[in-house]
Amino acid sequence: MQSHLVRGITRIAAVAALAMTAGLQAVPVMAAEDPLVLGKQLFTKSAVPACMLCHTLKDADASGAVGPNLDELKPNAARVAKALRDGLGQMPPYKSLSEEQILALARYVSQATGGGN
Ligand code: HEC
Repeated sequence: MQSHLVRGITRIAAVAALAMTAGLQAVPVMAAEDPLVLGKQLFTKSAVPACMLCHTLKDADASGAVGPNLDELKPNAARVAKALRDGLGQMPPYKSLSEEQILALARYVSQATGGGN
């Protein structure tokens, strides 16, 4: 009777521990690795200089007018990534962005404008 109870409690504790581990892993994955969230953050503030200073993009509430209006240009992801790596005309290359940040920006801008991959 007693050992039955102990075994039951042990099993419950094991399940709870598993659930906690899964929960702890799920939170940072969702917050930090959703490229669309990261891309929007970079676009509006963390890229230096921020894209929104020069570009219009409705999804980001951006109305910069130095560079082309991205809602009209609808660049695909490869075109955004190339502009970030190499720069273009007055747009500086973004040497300080990591590969992950470049891909997140490329994905965000192409998706938000309907530019595709
Ligand atoms: C200092 C102003 C400025 C900033 C900041 C800036 N851009 Fe640009 N961007 C431009 C200009 C100007 C052009 C057009 C260059 C040309 O066609 O000669 C351009 C072009 C582009 C293009 C079109 C590329 C092509 O192939 O025609 C994309 C996409 C783009 N920018 C994305 C971004 C993103 C994403 C960021 C932020 C990481 C950013 N830009 C930051 C000025 C800027």
